[in-house]
Amino acid sequence: MSVAALVIGAGIMGCGVAYRLRQAGWQVTLIDPQPPGNEATGAAAGILSAQVEASGPGLFLDLAQISLQLHDDWAHELLEATGQDTGLRRDGVLLLGRDDPSNGDDAEMSPQGLRRRRQWQEQRGLAVQTLSGKDIRQLEPNLQAGSEALFFPREGQVEPRKLLAALWQAGRQLGVRWLQGTVLRVLHEGTHVLGADVRSETGGVQSLHADHVVLCAGCWSSLLPGSTLVPQAVEPVRGQVAELWTPQPLLRHVVYGATQGAALHGYVVPRADGRLLLGATSERVGFDKAVTVDGLQSLLHLGRGLVPALGDAELRACWAGLRPASQDGLPIVGTTPVEGLSICTGHYRNGILLGPVSVELMAAQLLQRRPARLLEARTDWDLSPLSPRRFWAGPAAVQ
Ligand code: GLY
Repeated sequence: MSVAALVIGAGIMGCGVAYRLRQAGWQVTLIDPQPPGNEATGAAAGILSAQVEASGPGLFLDLAQISLQLHDDWAHELLEATGQDTGLRRDGVLLLGRDDPSNGDDAEMSPQGLRRRRQWQEQRGLAVQTLSGKDIRQLEPNLQAGSEALFFPREGQVEPRKLLAALWQAGRQLGVRWLQGTVLRVLHEGTHVLGADVRSETGGVQSLHADHVVLCAGCWSSLLPGSTLVPQAVEPVRGQVAELWTPQPLLRHVVYGATQGAALHGYVVPRADGRLLLGATSERVGFDKAVTVDGLQSLLHLGRGLVPALGDAELRACWAGLRPASQDGLPIVGTTPVEGLSICTGHYRNGILLGPVSVELMAAQLLQRRPARLLEARTDWDLSPLSPRRFWAGPAAVQ
């Protein structure tokens, strides 16, 4: 008899885990109150930059490096399985330095900060180049930059909505069952999972039974009764994003930077078709997904400062997403003290970058096998820092 699993949350983690479990022959039901990819995944810009996002060597960097390679594998696999492209481009990411670092937050972008970053990355054999002002102008003529930048030639971007659509289709065509509804609680009996109570769109509540429940509900995960996590384990951090469009693309590479007098350190993500994303604010305002005047103004100020020609661009859309920030900054991936209950969330700013490695690690724990790419990479990883057990709510969690 095949194993039955409920996967809660239809973002990159949930759709990815559901697909892998279904491939292994499990009976999988994916549940979300919203259509797939409607929350943090759909809001993300899709930057793949381990070398900007990591502040130094460590587990985050190791995971992100493997995940970059897994993005290549996923792109091939999903294209073959569904005919859909994920928008993956690994044509380089720029981190602009600041000639006038004005406060402590800018230290990373000061000439010394760039030098330090380059040093530790070179010591680890990562590809990183220092660009002069002239080099930057040659690479990106429309960019208003200072006199120095770092360039990470192996990094890039993916389009999260395309990636999600491909994952979703791949799972559905194999037989992942879809249920649009709200999970009210994870059900346990003693220290075993039983399933979950779900309110469907029509308002009826049903108890679904399963051998495994995988909780991938982003910033809502630790508030779900029965999650076993302390409520503050995962918190929402709002990111506002603006999408512009120009008939001719103005940039070719993802650019991280800040402009003179700008409150926001952010990024510009150009798509090949002339769309260009400006991101992102970082605000602890609870579960509020509003786009605000101040937020939009800071994004446009950043965009205009970095790419002056954007004054003529069309403002196409703006939105906000809630990043799931774990209390200690590391993802939460693994099994819990409740047998059959696993969690995959808490990726904060890097859910898209870390999606493939987290999904593969989660699936590997559940299926008790590792894909070749993870085996090739490292076998001696200590993954205990990712364990959901660090946020265990105590015996009350299983009563
Ligand atoms: N990945 C960048 C951000 O969350 O703003």
